[in-house]
Amino acid sequence: MDKRLIIAIDGYSSSGKSTFARAIARELNYIYIDSGAMYRAVTLYCLRKGYIGKDVLRMEGILADIKDIHISFIYNPDINEYETFLNSENIEREIRGFEVSSYVSRISQIPEVRYRMVELQRQIGVYKGIVMDGRDIGTVVFPDADLKIFMTASVDIRAKRRFDELINKNIEIDFEEVRENIIARDIADENRDISPLRRADDAIVLDNSRMTVEQQMEWVTKIIENKINGR
Ligand code: DC
Repeated sequence: MDKRLIIAIDGYSSSGKSTFARAIARELNYIYIDSGAMYRAVTLYCLRKGYIGKDVLRMEGILADIKDIHISFIYNPDINEYETFLNSENIEREIRGFEVSSYVSRISQIPEVRYRMVELQRQIGVYKGIVMDGRDIGTVVFPDADLKIFMTASVDIRAKRRFDELINKNIEIDFEEVRENIIARDIADENRDISPLRRADDAIVLDNSRMTVEQQMEWVTKIIENKINGR
């Protein structure tokens, strides 16, 4: 039972990837990596430096700094979660805000940013025993992943989940704005030239519109057991 897997979870924004990926990682005692947080961290860096903003995109600045952007995930025992750090600063809360969400699609379309993130993601995966979620994990980052899951759920359900998540974090937001942001991100994710969101041929589709996390875990546990036992 000691075969350690690489598990790739891709899918649409707010389809519950991170909740599910976290639950799997906890169950198996694996590392969980939220690759979206890495693109969000780069976006925050660029916003702070003024490299991106309304009608602004300073590519020379982004390209010059990309090697200086250090991202890490540090375990916080108080909340039993990993938090995202940018150059040693805890930015977990800030990267979930509306401003970063509004610009992250633009930043994640830049090839040099993607190359750098993929490089970092592969380094984190060398020892296996990892669950990583994102958009291109099964297609680009780990094309040989042991298990690939492609997650989806209806737009309304995803917007409600995201809305509730933001409200729980005391971030004031209008539901319609959240819904529109999700639709816009779906379009951007599916249509960008580099590493667009698409299901890998060997990924299993999971539509969790009407499933609890427990039901999803029950479903995936059997699949994982078969993988570990080589069936
Ligand atoms: O999963 P998320 O919503 O936190 O991701 C934020 C953005 O980052 C999203 O608009 C798509 C992008 N992203 C990506 O392009 N590739 C990934 N592997 C993960 C996220």
